[in-house]
Amino acid sequence: MTTEITTRMTAAAAQEAQAGTATAARAWNHTHVLDLDDFSREEIEIVLDLADRMREILDRRIARVPALRGFTVVNLFYEPSTRTRASFELAGKVLGADVLSLSASTSSVQKGESLIDTVRTMRAMRADAIVIRHAMAGAPYLAATHTDAAIINAGDGSHAHPTQALLDLYTIRRHVGDLAGKRVVMVGDIAHSRVARSDLWGLTTMGADVVVCGPPTLLPRGLRVSDRPAHAESALPPVTIETDADRALEGADVVIALRLQSERQEGGLLPSLHEYAEHYQVTERRLARANPNHLLMHPGPKNEGIEISGPVARGSHSIIEEQVTNGVAVRMALLYLLSGGTEPPGGDAPTRTADGDARR
Ligand code: CP
Repeated sequence: MTTEITTRMTAAAAQEAQAGTATAARAWNHTHVLDLDDFSREEIEIVLDLADRMREILDRRIARVPALRGFTVVNLFYEPSTRTRASFELAGKVLGADVLSLSASTSSVQKGESLIDTVRTMRAMRADAIVIRHAMAGAPYLAATHTDAAIINAGDGSHAHPTQALLDLYTIRRHVGDLAGKRVVMVGDIAHSRVARSDLWGLTTMGADVVVCGPPTLLPRGLRVSDRPAHAESALPPVTIETDADRALEGADVVIALRLQSERQEGGLLPSLHEYAEHYQVTERRLARANPNHLLMHPGPKNEGIEISGPVARGSHSIIEEQVTNGVAVRMALLYLLSGGTEPPGGDAPTRTADGDARR
């Protein structure tokens, strides 16, 4: 099978991939992926360019290459997930990695084992990358200080979801090319959304003109320049703030509808769901104000009838399912980069670093 896959890659494509991954090896400096606030534009582009190669592999009739043979990925999920967990599993398997998934509900976490002990236990079993989703903001950062495995943040509380942001950037780029100057409007519960925070970093780094829109109670503190805390590193990047959805959507090139994060909200932030939907639901009527070629996105899971209408979610502008497919390609790219791979994925050459260690 390996030979068949290799020979299907043309010499030109192999050369191009080799050049691309050689560049990636030079400029990629991350041992973990915790958020996008420490990613440069060049580093984001390395991930997105490599995701193009991964998407090509993913779209093959037999989507399997041995690029991560002998590399072990552990999914450690303390919160529910459909897309992120499944796509990391698929991403690892397409690249030939060993992948195992642990849920907090069925692991020794139930017997009181700490996050740090769990991570160290997984590393003792030779896990090379550990993908963590946790309800507490900062949990993956803590893990990263107690292991030399690569830690990937798959969502920590309301804080960050960097792999979702990268797949969002990749999906937008596939449609519009350069994001610079594109009006990207996020509508919904910005305050509790880790996707919104990571998207803000990624989109502004790529030069997009970002607008966030929601009721004042669902906009995060620190967004307005006047609210900025003294510590610059805790500030969010500058964006336009709107509380009127009709005005926000005027001329939008991309609309990202965000779920109401009821599991993270304290009470009293909204008068009623009905009233919220009345003022902030992304509907066909509201989207008539957007650019006629706008893209409609949602990270999922979505609550149709609350933040987005059913016809819009399944309409001709919706690229929600494409986001899901691209999520696999982007996560393949991240696992590959974190493994220290330097050969073109798709070939059957060993892909580990010269010292033979899993990652470094
Ligand atoms: N977008 C996202 O993180 O979805 P899941 O919660 O299903 O992983």
